[in-house]
Amino acid sequence: MKQINIGGSGLQGSEIVLGCMRISEMGESALEKHIRTALECGVNHFDHADIYGGGESERLFGKVLKNAPQLREKMVLQSKCGIRPGRYDFSKEHILESVDGILSRLGVEYLDLLLLHRPDALMEPEEVAEAFDSLEASGKVRKFGVSNFNARQLELLQAALKQKLVVNQLQFGVMHTGMINHALCANTKFPGSEDRDGEILDYCRLKGITIQAWSPFQYGFFEGVFLDNGKFPELNAALKELSGKYQATPTALAAAWILRHPAKMQVIAGTTNPQRLQEICTACEISLSREDWYKIYLSAGNRLP
Ligand SMILES: NC(=O)c1ccc[n+]([C@@H]2O[C@H](COP(=O)([O-])OP(=O)(O)OC[C@H]3O[C@@H](n4cnc5c(N)ncnc54)[C@H](OP(=O)(O)O)[C@@H]3O)[C@@H](O)[C@H]2O)c1
Repeated sequence: MKQINIGGSGLQGSEIVLGCMRISEMGESALEKHIRTALECGVNHFDHADIYGGGESERLFGKVLKNAPQLREKMVLQSKCGIRPGRYDFSKEHILESVDGILSRLGVEYLDLLLLHRPDALMEPEEVAEAFDSLEASGKVRKFGVSNFNARQLELLQAALKQKLVVNQLQFGVMHTGMINHALCANTKFPGSEDRDGEILDYCRLKGITIQAWSPFQYGFFEGVFLDNGKFPELNAALKELSGKYQATPTALAAAWILRHPAKMQVIAGTTNPQRLQEICTACEISLSREDWYKIYLSAGNRLP
């Protein structure tokens, strides 16, 4: 599987990342099998957050690593912090405490990447900078990034930091095309021309920030899977039709649609099923033609001016 030079930092993460938001109920041996399948497929990058499963996802992952510590060095391990019940919190104290909690639950000495999970309206960039300096100096975190940030928020935070922000994790996929719609509808009053993300896609490309696409197979704010879903007949028909041409499943084509974008994004798959993960990884062998990429985009209900 192709590796992405994350944010130009030299850290090499796989195109498909295994998202660990749904793993907390899996059981240790099932998770170990899942992780080993991921590594065998070339998936070396694992995405956590301190809140997944109320901390249980990291704890379970840590149990697997405890029994197989040699796996740690094969991995790019990332986690996120900053979401608390009823509020967001980017205070220095909370960031430092969160990282200690993450490291202890995972049972590891350092994170390859720490992301701030969702913008905090009360963010003080200088305070975040102090937290990042301390985490870097202590060796607890190697690289830093954000999630769900728009362009100005990124710029505001970056201006105070010594470290380059290398990742922005954003909801993106066949059914989450807001970042594409407004660009294609520029200079029109077409539905979709509203920019809700502060031109974040082009901004990340300009700055060399790697976009990680979360919930790639979901529609809505993770309301369910669009694949094989009767609510999206046109999209599913298009994916089925292209299956024959590319010798690929609709699921793999949906992931390939993201990977085809020249921003060189990573796809964060949240499956808990090793077979499905293998299927998703076949996306890396597919290069959609321009015509088919647009066909899938339009079949998801989008229109061109
Ligand atoms: N930064 C953020 O704010 C944010 C927010 C949400 C998520 N995330 C990250 O993104 C990762 C992925 O999110 P997600 O789990 O919502 O995304 P997803 O990969 O789009 O959805 C996975 C879920 O869909 C199910 N599924 C059913 N049919 C499927 C098919 N044909 N193909 C693929 N999946 C199918 C899976 O079930 P099976 O387990 O049975 O395969 C699993 O429950 C999370 O683990 C987390 O790391 C980040």
